[in-house]
Amino acid sequence: PPVTPPAEKLLAFGAVGKSLLDSVVVPAGYTASILYALGDPLTASTSAFKNDGSDADYENRAGDHHDGMEFFGLGADGKPSASGADRGLLAMNHEATTNQALSSFFIHANGGTNTLPRPAVEVDKETGLHGISVVEVRRTGGKWEYVKDSAFNRRVTCLTECELSGPAAGNALMVTKYSPDGKKTRGTLNNCGTGKTPWGSFVSGEENWSGYFTRDKNDDTARAGDKSVASLKRYGRNAGSASRHGWETGGADDKYARWNISKTGASTDGKDDYRNEMNAMGYIVEADPYNKTRALKKRTALGRYAHESAAFSKPVVGQPLGVYMGDDSRNEYIYKFVTEEVWAAADATPSDMLKTGDKYLDKGKLYVAKFGADGSGQWIELSINNAAIAGYAGYKFADQADVLVNARLAGDAVGATKMDRPEWCTVNPANGEIYFSLTNNSGRVAAGSGTLVDGPNPRAYTDLKGKSEQKGNPNGHILRIKEGSAGASSATFSWDVYLFGAESGADAGKVNLSNLTADQDFSSPDGLAFTPSTGLLWIQTDDGAYTDVTNCMMLAAIPGSVGDGKKVTLDYPAAGTAAAFKVDTFVGKAATADTVKRFLVGPVDCELTGIAETPDGKALFVNIQHPGEGTDQANIGDPGKYTSQWPANAGYGAGKRPRSATIVITKNDGGRIGS
Ligand code: FEO
Ligand code: CA
Ligand code: CA
Ligand code: CA
Repeated sequence: PPVTPPAEKLLAFGAVGKSLLDSVVVPAGYTASILYALGDPLTASTSAFKNDGSDADYENRAGDHHDGMEFFGLGADGKPSASGADRGLLAMNHEATTNQALSSFFIHANGGTNTLPRPAVEVDKETGLHGISVVEVRRTGGKWEYVKDSAFNRRVTCLTECELSGPAAGNALMVTKYSPDGKKTRGTLNNCGTGKTPWGSFVSGEENWSGYFTRDKNDDTARAGDKSVASLKRYGRNAGSASRHGWETGGADDKYARWNISKTGASTDGKDDYRNEMNAMGYIVEADPYNKTRALKKRTALGRYAHESAAFSKPVVGQPLGVYMGDDSRNEYIYKFVTEEVWAAADATPSDMLKTGDKYLDKGKLYVAKFGADGSGQWIELSINNAAIAGYAGYKFADQADVLVNARLAGDAVGATKMDRPEWCTVNPANGEIYFSLTNNSGRVAAGSGTLVDGPNPRAYTDLKGKSEQKGNPNGHILRIKEGSAGASSATFSWDVYLFGAESGADAGKVNLSNLTADQDFSSPDGLAFTPSTGLLWIQTDDGAYTDVTNCMMLAAIPGSVGDGKKVTLDYPAAGTAAAFKVDTFVGKAATADTVKRFLVGPVDCELTGIAETPDGKALFVNIQHPGEGTDQANIGDPGKYTSQWPANAGYGAGKRPRSATIVITKNDGGRIGS
């Protein structure tokens, strides 16, 4: 899309104060309007959403927990147009649903069933709420609305057929009853961050998919001598692990039974059961947002882990592309995929997006990051030809596909650096530097058991306020990476910490290392993206540590570059039997009122996520995820006890149950968002 040079002063808006209101707060001169919420119909014949738990047919409605999102322009004629700014498609993730126990309680009449077996009618609603949606939006007479009967509207759920692509497609690890040739699977699940490829397609990361599957108590015994046990454990599925919703108990049909991945689940002949179902989750999936007849492709070359966003290096003709990705779990890794093919300018306007995706995303090398204490770092290739991987004692890799499917184990084998939960990443269009949200890590320690502090993850505290979410690194930080001279294919990089999340009153020498003031203090960065029209960096929070003072928020920032700050040495005192020690870290230039400013605060119990602008920068789409998630299911019959009634309390839709929703932000004077 064309990039307009800045015309207005950026960050000229007045900072939004911290807020506990059950509403969306934006700066004076801006308007936030609700556009598209959980349950909204996506076809002409789908009934209006009643929001009382009686609705069904979620395959034809907006899903739940709106998350990452990208905008794809349409011209006035309804044809794809990279510069289309008054009409376009939003492709977005529907990550999960709000539950305390098994049931997604806001979508069932009486809150639903929290005992097993789960009724099929409830399971069908819940599986229909997950996945992705594509919805047309347009500006008519200055007002944005979604188009209920658009032919582009699409739902993909966690049961929709998807193609496996790249090195692991067809591998023995992918063979299931559903796909004897191991080339397809059902559904995309727990989709979190997103991205846009240089050829214009939509990519979505599958994150906490593991928790939806169950294993019987005796499954380790049933799998005795089978290395799959090590893989299942490394991805969080111990024998006897209960599934998040109990979907496996919905009935005998495969669409329920497939959620029990025990070896004895359906048969024991080694081929035709569900034991490998989970190997087909955990990828970056690619979609052509303009063509709902094309199946999603799971890009196995980019590795299997708890994906968030996928951020592409700025394309350079004749050079490979880099794709940066995080694995959002405590002490997991940062990854980079480098394409085998070099960028060709003609691919910016492909005739077949997914075929172009095959070209760039099915062949290449996957690397994992190892950070040095001196501000340097290395990318280590995850290859079956690496002796540390081929000879790894923890798991016997069969081939390169096995390395990709079990990327976490390969990262362990090469001693990659354990990070404070890498969430979204994004590339600065001004200089190519890569920014990663490290949201928080309750398992980071300065002494005792856990993962010890280090340069890129240098903070660990114990129970600052007597709350469990205050342990370790509760406020998170934003790390940035500058590639070596070879750009995206560099083997080495340098790094610093752009911003440390903190409460503004916290100790500036130990906690508030970026000198945040009350107009910009935040905790637990998660959503993170540069908008091309302004070059601003948007930071969104998913916080539990500072929510006694403020709901989750979104900030706008004008960052500098790696190395613009200083070295800071954190001194950890001797505690108990541990000896005193020091950790050096590198902190970017301190925040100022001109470089970081709070732009929006959301309603109660929500997370802010998803950042997508129109190409002219005059509309910004943002998602409000799971407002009211702290509501006790026992209070489902008493709306007065919901912790949030948004967006109904803002005049949107029927009922009072809270709903995840997309909002659109415009500036009253018609200017660009962030000015
Ligand atoms: Fe879905 Fe890591 O947030
Ligand atoms: Ca996230
Ligand atoms: Ca998060
Ligand atoms: Ca969430």
